[in-house]
This record gives sequence, structure tokens and C-alpha cells, in this order.
Amino acid sequence: MEHRRLHEKMIFLMSAGAIGIIFLVIGVYQAVEFMDSTAFCGRLCHQVMYPEYTTYQASPHSRVTCAECHVGRGSDYMVRSKLSGIPLIFTTLFGTYDRPIPTPVANLRPARDTCEQCHRPGRFSGDLVRVHTTYQMDEKNTKKVDSRILRVGGGEAGTTHDIHWLIGGNVWYLPMDEKRQEIGWVGIENSQGELITEYIDPDKASELIHTDPKRIENEKRLMDCLDCHTRVTHIFQSPEELIDMAFIQGRIDDSLPFIKREGVKALDPPNSSLAEAIVKVEAIKAFYSISYPELYVSEGRAIEQAIEELKEIARLTTFPDMNVSWKTYIDNAGHQKSPGCFRCHSKLVAITGPQKGRVLDASCDSCHYRVETQ
Ligand code: HEC
Ligand code: HEC
Ligand code: HEC
Ligand code: HEC
Ligand code: HEC
Repeated sequence: MEHRRLHEKMIFLMSAGAIGIIFLVIGVYQAVEFMDSTAFCGRLCHQVMYPEYTTYQASPHSRVTCAECHVGRGSDYMVRSKLSGIPLIFTTLFGTYDRPIPTPVANLRPARDTCEQCHRPGRFSGDLVRVHTTYQMDEKNTKKVDSRILRVGGGEAGTTHDIHWLIGGNVWYLPMDEKRQEIGWVGIENSQGELITEYIDPDKASELIHTDPKRIENEKRLMDCLDCHTRVTHIFQSPEELIDMAFIQGRIDDSLPFIKREGVKALDPPNSSLAEAIVKVEAIKAFYSISYPELYVSEGRAIEQAIEELKEIARLTTFPDMNVSWKTYIDNAGHQKSPGCFRCHSKLVAITGPQKGRVLDASCDSCHYRVETQ
């Protein structure tokens, strides 16, 4: 009798254990799944990452999960980035994280593993038309259209050319600062991995000579998507840019006098809270009722709609808790707001190879040309 009860107990314990393990496995699996979801990143890290979450939702990548770029596929990376995420979660809880969160993100998975899951650099993009429509801050919100054609190029290794040539081949560079804005050396390898052309920045030559001769070998980076496309989804635009976009899309009526000037005045420089930004936006109604009393009555609905849209723009530009504004993060995919392409172009000089002695091309036509407009 005793023996049988013991036996039953054992079976009970064993099956309970097995069920427990199954639940544990499901639990861990679901936890990992959940941690990979956008909701997790957006909600749990809400306070810290709300600027990134907000701009991401308004971007072309809003259907791509955070993990698809920040973790990538494959368990090895998943485990490593989850582990390296733990200190971040702790600092989130205790509020000791940096504000703003610093970039470049050191442990972001190499872009060639993540971006290339969806984008094929070998596909040739050719020339891409870019139309920049801007509006002045005058009474008529006068429109100005400026277009250029970008030589994006691309293509398989060997035949690739133009801007995406830089990822078709093996281009290495040495960043001299943490933000990767100062570039001391560039080396181009052929398909056999032999250095064929080297460039240096003459202004940094003496610093390069006096540093550890192994520095290039140890610190060089293979040029990838993120060396240009830093703001591919967390696109922090200024109120001015967002108002222009709202005009283009018809969400703000550009016939409302001075609406751009008033909108920019309310939101730039950034307000110290969203509530303050909204109060300033609401005050635009008073501007119309005093300066344009007739229009205030006849265009009441358009004014109301513009105010609602400006509140949305306030939400996309006001991140005081994290000290983030449209000026915080560097966009390397151009050269107007930060040096971008001009970190190398116009600065570097070839010291070996076929280009020897030449300054890296910075003629405007090498990257974009004009469309004839009538
Ligand atoms: C399409 C790819 C992509 C997606 C999707 C994405 N990110 Fe990013 N993220 C980036 C890139 C690229 C950077 C900039 C890296 C750098 O400059 O080193 C970045 C940077 C960041 C930073 C550092 C601060 C900053 O603004 O540069 C945070 C925080 C961040 N992402 C959080 C998130 C969260 C949360 C999500 C999901 C809601 C998300 N990311 C989705 C690509 C992505
Ligand atoms: C899971 C798929 C996916 C991943 C991963 C991804 N993208 Fe994209 N990307 C897209 C899609 C889809 C679009 C087009 C969105 C649209 O036009 O609405 C896009 C658009 C773009 C555009 C054009 C944006 C514009 O203004 O029209 C660029 C540039 C880009 N991606 C670069 C990147 C880079 C760099 C990375 C890696 C950090 C990356 N993408 C990761 C799916 C992805
Ligand atoms: C030397 C800088 C540079 C590098 C490196 C680079 N790009 Fe681009 N890319 C550009 C520029 C400039 C444009 C055109 C303007 C824009 O969209 O910002 C562009 C456009 C694009 C576009 C939109 C045009 C199209 O073909 O539909 C995609 C997608 C894209 N890049 C993906 C990538 C991916 C993925 C990588 C990495 C494998 C990469 N780029 C590396 C500079 C670069
Ligand atoms: C890290 C340095 C570096 C940065 C940053 C950089 N380039 Fe370059 N770029 C080079 C080098 C080096 C070459 C090759 C010159 C040669 O032929 O020897 C090159 C070549 C080019 C070419 C000519 C490709 C061909 O068909 O031969 C274009 C176009 C170009 N870059 C555009 C850009 C644009 C646009 C940006 C910014 C979005 C940019 N580059 C940023 C270093 C850089
Ligand atoms: C190394 C490549 C390169 C060179 C050289 C270059 N540009 Fe650009 N330029 C770009 C890229 C990339 C953009 C971003 C295009 C975009 O996203 O629409 C750009 C954008 C611009 C814009 C539009 C900015 C805006 O936001 O409206 C102007 C204006 C401009 N370039 C003028 C010039 C002039 C003038 C020269 C010659 C002195 C020049 N560029 C040389 C790559 C280059």
C-alpha cells in the first residue's frame, strides 16, 4: 500500500514537473516574443523612447517592428541584444539614463544583416527625382519648388556606380570621434580584399601619424547603410518642415494668411511642455479674430482644422523630458543640416591608387543634377 502511494506521488510529481516545464518554456517563449514586439518597446520604454516611438509611427517604416532593425533575425543576436538591453531597462527604472539617448547605437546589429532583409542593394535604383516644396513665412505662404535628381545608382558588385557604389564594394573608414563625424582615413579594397586606394584627411594627418599604428586596423569600420541613413525611421523634422508637408498634403489650407509664420512662431524654439505648445497653438485663433475678423468667421472650419494639425505637429516636435528636438540627432544622408557626405567629399585626398593626389570629388553634379523646369 505504502509503496503504491509513493509510486502515485512520484507519477504526480513527474507529470506536474513536465507540465511546469512546458508552461515555463511557453512563458519564456512568449516573453521573448513580447519583448520583440513594438508594443513592448513603445510602452515599457515609453518614457525613455517616446521621441523615437512617436517619430517611428509617422515614418515609412512604421510597419517594421523595432526588433527587425534593432535585433534582427537569428537567435544568437537575439540573446546578445536582450542581455545588453538589461542595463537599459534598469537605468529606465531608476531614471539614470542619458537624455537624450546617445548615438551612434553601439550594439545595433550590422545594417547589412537587418536592412538587407528587406532592401536589396544589388537592385539598381538609378536616378531618383527629389522634389523639395517649401513655403515662405509671408502673408500668402508663397510656395517654392526646387527639384533635383539624385544619382542613387546601386547594382551588383563590380558594375555598381553612383551613390550606392559605396556599399557595392568594400569601403572602410576610420572615424576619429564618437559621433563618426571626423573621418581620418578611407581604404577601398578590391574583391580579393587587397587595398587599392587610400585616402586621408590632410588636416588629420599629423594626428594619424602620432597615434598607434594599429589604430586603423583596430578601429576601421566597413561602410554600411547606417553611415548615411541614420534617420531612416526616427525622423525628427522641424515644425517648419512639418508645416510644409501639411500644406502639400492638404491638411493645412495654404490660403490662410500667415498660417505658416504663426505656426512656426508657436512651436520653434521647442516649448518646455506639450501643454505649453498646445496653448500657443490655440492662441492662433485669437490672432485671426483680431487681425482678420471677417476671415475668422468665413474660414472658421479651415482655421479649426489648421489648429488641430498644428497640435499634431506639436506632438511630433516637443520632447522636453528627453531633451530631444529636431536638432539633436545627425542625419548623414545629405549635407545641408550636417556635414554628411562632406565629411569625406571635398576633404579627403588620395594617397595611393589611380586617384593619387586628387581631392575626393565634391562637384555638385557628381551626386545630383537639375531638372529643367518651365
Ligand atoms: C527601419 C529600422 C528601424 C526601426 C524599425 C526602428 N529603429 Fe530605432 N534606430 C534605427 C537607426 C538606423 C537608428 C540610429 C542609429 C545610429 O545613429 O547609430 C536608431 C536609433 C534608435 C534609438 C537611439 C536614439 C536615436 O533616435 O537615434 C532608440 C532609442 C531607438 N532607435 C528605439 C527604437 C524603438 C523603440 C523602435 C520601435 C518603436 C525602433 N527604434 C524602430 C533604426 C530603426
Ligand atoms: C522589415 C522590412 C524592412 C527593414 C528591416 C528595413 N526597411 Fe527600409 N523600407 C521598408 C519598406 C516596406 C519601405 C517603403 C515604405 C513606403 O514607401 O511606404 C522602406 C523604405 C525605405 C527607404 C525610403 C524611405 C523614403 O523616404 O521613402 C529607405 C532609405 C530605407 N527604407 C532604408 C532602410 C535602412 C537603412 C534599413 C536598416 C536600418 C531599413 N530600411 C530596414 C522595409 C524595411
Ligand atoms: C553613401 C551613403 C549611402 C549609403 C552607404 C547607403 N545609402 Fe541608401 N541612399 C543614399 C541617398 C543619398 C539616397 C537618396 C536620398 C534619400 O532617400 O535619402 C538613398 C536612397 C535609398 C533608398 C530609396 C531609393 C530606392 O532605391 O528605392 C533605399 C531603399 C536605400 N537608400 C537603402 C539603402 C540600404 C539598404 C543601404 C545599405 C545596404 C544603403 N541605402 C546605403 C545614401 C546612401
Ligand atoms: C567615409 C567617407 C565618405 C562618405 C561619408 C561619403 N563618401 Fe562618397 N565616396 C567616398 C570615396 C572614398 C569614394 C570613391 C572615390 C574613388 O573613386 O576613388 C566615393 C565615391 C562616391 C561617388 C562616385 C561613385 C562612382 O560611381 O564612382 C558618389 C556619387 C558618392 N561617393 C556620393 C556620396 C554621397 C551622396 C554621400 C553622402 C550621402 C557620400 N558619398 C558620403 C567616400 C565617402
Ligand atoms: C557627395 C555627394 C554630393 C555633392 C558633391 C553635393 N551634394 Fe547636394 N545633396 C546630396 C544629397 C545626398 C542630398 C540630399 C537629397 C535629398 O534627400 O533630397 C543633397 C541635397 C542638396 C540640396 C537640398 C537640400 C534640401 O534639404 O532642400 C541642395 C540645395 C544641395 N544639395 C546643393 C548642393 C550644391 C550647391 C552642391 C555643390 C557645391 C552639392 N549639393 C554637392 C549630395 C551631394
